[in-house]
Amino acid sequence: MQQFLGVDDVSGSVSDLIEKCLAIKADPKASRYAGENKTLTCLYLNSSLRTRLSTEKAARNLEMNIANLDFGSGWNIELLDGSIMDLETVEHVKEAAGVISQYTDLLAIRTAADLDDRETDYQDRVINSFVRHAKVPVINLESAIRHPLQSLADCITIQEQSSRPRPKVVLSWAPCPIPLSQAVPNSFVEWMRAWGEVELVITNPPGMDLDPDFIGDTPVFHDQAKAFAGADFIYAKNWSSYQDYGKVYTQGQNWRITQELMNRTNNGKFMHCLPVRRNVVVDDPVLDCDQSLVMEQAANRTWAAQGVLLEILGELRKE
Ligand code: CP
Repeated sequence: MQQFLGVDDVSGSVSDLIEKCLAIKADPKASRYAGENKTLTCLYLNSSLRTRLSTEKAARNLEMNIANLDFGSGWNIELLDGSIMDLETVEHVKEAAGVISQYTDLLAIRTAADLDDRETDYQDRVINSFVRHAKVPVINLESAIRHPLQSLADCITIQEQSSRPRPKVVLSWAPCPIPLSQAVPNSFVEWMRAWGEVELVITNPPGMDLDPDFIGDTPVFHDQAKAFAGADFIYAKNWSSYQDYGKVYTQGQNWRITQELMNRTNNGKFMHCLPVRRNVVVDDPVLDCDQSLVMEQAANRTWAAQGVLLEILGELRKE
């Protein structure tokens, strides 16, 4: 694996990568020295709990050095070529990426969508600008439109928890009072489709469909109760409008995940990437019951990160 921006960077099959991550989970220190004398720099342009801690833990399991940089406030990076930097940006990505590349062997970046202009967000400018100017492999810790480490952890979780081949997996929109990006649902759909081992269904209110390029041929139901019927996994996530870009859908309170809805499933498991707003996105009894996998998903973030680091380190060692 040369870099990790999305599922297209997986060298073999998604199934193989999941198996490698599960092997790491069974014996986290088996490749203990794979990262010795290598440095991972993680650049955080917005805050993170799970991604930060799991990536750090994964790097330490491989004996890597890790540097976490918080660029969230005050240190604004300029992305545009030829710009006159007389406003709030203090450093151009050409210098930032070039300098970081001198100190580190791998660069991981966490950024987010602005949710102002769809075309700009969907160009994924921050991460792609770093890829263009960095001299080291880049890892996506969540970008404007994708969150591949979360999706890999979700694949691992489904693989572990599934009691039958080709389980029915439902990605359900759920309400939230603030605008959230489409990164997690985009990636989830992308990975489920690339994996090919689940029957994926999306359900969301009318007018809240995701980007058609991500949906592809995935069935989309605008009747949530119908979509939940017989499901093995319910993956809840809010996203703001793709069509009326970045707008909050305010009429969706009845899309909250309730026990009544879960009762329509095939004893289905509940999934969410976290953080989650209790009793807004999902009711307490659903989140707190044995069928909830949110802790397992968070735990699997470490093995997803370690699997990806190991793949990229393997490629670096060949050079
Ligand atoms: N799911 C996830 O990426 O969590 P953080 O925002 O805490 O990293």
